[in-house]
Amino acid sequence: MKRIGVFTSGGDAPGMNACIRAIVRTAVYYGLEVYGIRRGYNGMIKGDIFKMESITVSNIIQKGGTLLKSARSKEFLTKEGRQAAYEQLRAHGIEGLVAIGGDGTFTGANIFYEEYGIPTIGAPGTIDNDLYGTDYTIGYDTAVNTALDAIDKIRDTADSHERVFFVEVMGRDSGYIAIPCAIGGGAEIVMIPETDTSIDFVIEQLKAGWSRSKTSFIVIVAEGDEEGSATEIAAKVSQQIPNMDARVTILGHVQRGGAPTAADRMLASQLGIACVEGLMAGRTNEMAGIINRELVYTPFIETITKQKLINPNFTKMVDILSV
Ligand code: F6P
Repeated sequence: MKRIGVFTSGGDAPGMNACIRAIVRTAVYYGLEVYGIRRGYNGMIKGDIFKMESITVSNIIQKGGTLLKSARSKEFLTKEGRQAAYEQLRAHGIEGLVAIGGDGTFTGANIFYEEYGIPTIGAPGTIDNDLYGTDYTIGYDTAVNTALDAIDKIRDTADSHERVFFVEVMGRDSGYIAIPCAIGGGAEIVMIPETDTSIDFVIEQLKAGWSRSKTSFIVIVAEGDEEGSATEIAAKVSQQIPNMDARVTILGHVQRGGAPTAADRMLASQLGIACVEGLMAGRTNEMAGIINRELVYTPFIETITKQKLINPNFTKMVDILSV
C-alpha cells in the first residue's frame, strides 16, 4: 500500500486535528503518500482531494475543529454516491482509507468496503463516547471539561438566586457526557437515556433537598433522555411545583469546540498512528481504540451494533453525593 486517504466525518470533535496530524506524520514516516479528503464522504464523491505533506499538519495539534472539514453525507447513502466516491479514489490512486468519525461514518465505511474493497481503518472521533471498542473517543474528554466549566459558572448564579437549573448536555443517545458533568459538577440529579429517571423522582429529590435546606439545584439532562429535552423536563416539573424558580441552559455546540485537552491529544495521536500501522499490516473494517490502556482493533460491525454500557453505579453516585 503506497497511497492512503484520510477524512473526517460526522460531528466534529476536539482532537480530530491531532489525529489527522498523526496520520499524516505516520504515513510520511513510513514512506507512504497521504491525501486529504475534505468534507467527509461529500468531498470523496466530489473529488475534493489534495496531497498532504508533513508541513500541511504543522501547528494544528492544539486546534479544535478539523482541518479537513466534516459533513454528514446523504449522497453517500446511495449506491450512485458510493460509486462516484470509488471512482474519485481510483482516479487519485488511493489504496486505503483512514476514517475519523462516529458510528455513521463506520456504517458507511463498512458498506463501501463490501462494495469496493478499499481497506479502511477508523479512529473514534466523536464527543459522545458512544462507540463500542474503546474506553474513550477523541473529543470526549475536552467536551466534558468544556461542559463542566460552564456548569461551574451556572452553579454560581444558581446559588446566588437560589434557583433550579436544568442543564442540557450533548451525547446524542448516550449519557456519557452527562455522567461526569453531574458527578464532577456536583449536580443533585442526572437524567440519561440509559436509565429511567421519572419526573416524579425529580420532584421527590427537589422536595427532599429543600427539606434539607438546599436552596439551589443543578439537574443535568442528557439531550437524548426519555423524558425529553431540558426545556420539556423543566416545564413538566414546573407544572407540579409552580412556585419553583427554575432556568434552563442548553450547552449545545460549545461542547464541540475548543482546544483539545492533553488526554485527547494523546489519544488522537496514538490512534492516528495505529490506523496507519493497521492499514500497513493488512487490516480493514476495524476501528482502532484503547481499552484498559491497550491498543485494540474492533470490527466496524461491532462498533456500530454493540452498545458500550454505562456503569449503573454512576447514577447511584449522584444520589449519594447530593444528599
Ligand atoms: O455526535 C456528536 C453530536 O454533537 C451529538 O452529541 C449531537 O446530538 C449532534 O452531534 C449534533 O449534530 P449537528 O452538529 O449536526 O447539529
